[in-house]
Amino acid sequence: MTHESTDYQRFLAEILIDEAALKARIASLGAEITRDYQGEDLLLICILRGGVMFLTDLMRAIHTPHGIDFMAVSSYGVGARNTSGQVRITLDLNTDIRNRHVILVEDIVDSGHTIASVLDMLTTRQPKSLKVCTLLNKASRREVVVPIHYVGFDIEDKFVFGYGLDLDELYRNLPFIGVVDPARYTPPQH
Ligand code: IMP
Ligand code: MG
Repeated sequence: MTHESTDYQRFLAEILIDEAALKARIASLGAEITRDYQGEDLLLICILRGGVMFLTDLMRAIHTPHGIDFMAVSSYGVGARNTSGQVRITLDLNTDIRNRHVILVEDIVDSGHTIASVLDMLTTRQPKSLKVCTLLNKASRREVVVPIHYVGFDIEDKFVFGYGLDLDELYRNLPFIGVVDPARYTPPQH
């Protein structure tokens, strides 16, 4: 795609979740996490790159001290359906998570393979607890059972973008979650 980032409108079928709705929901997720981790040693781990916008807003809604760190993973077999479900770490944490309470912060859980793999890898490092907070959940696409403790929004099986989620690496900056017009954009097989 070679076009300016203001060009997103031609891919946009509808705005699914607007800025105000995101803000309100993230405020209540933050309040919930604040209550659940009061007085605990909490670390938020953001999975790059889609989780970045969510992390920065969520952490401002959490009013108990916490650290943050980042990791990135990629699926085996880029461009093809990731049937193995395995992912590899392309950027690892700088933090030792042993004996810490950890929340993984994700943009979206779709098939569940990414988060299942990350949970497996991080469990071997013996955190005190390990939970998942995802902004979006496409439950109807799930191929593997994954425990999700905090969900922003349950959404239908539609390809979405904005607020951290990309279309070919663009439009992560949009302040809302939009639905892609399938006539104008073919989602990658991930
Ligand atoms: P899973 O391993 O199938 O759960 O895939 C999760 C990853 O697929 C997310 O972290 C996103 O990067 C990507 N993904 C899934 N659905 C969408 C979508 O609707 N828009 C943008 N990215 C998506
Ligand atoms: Mg992602």
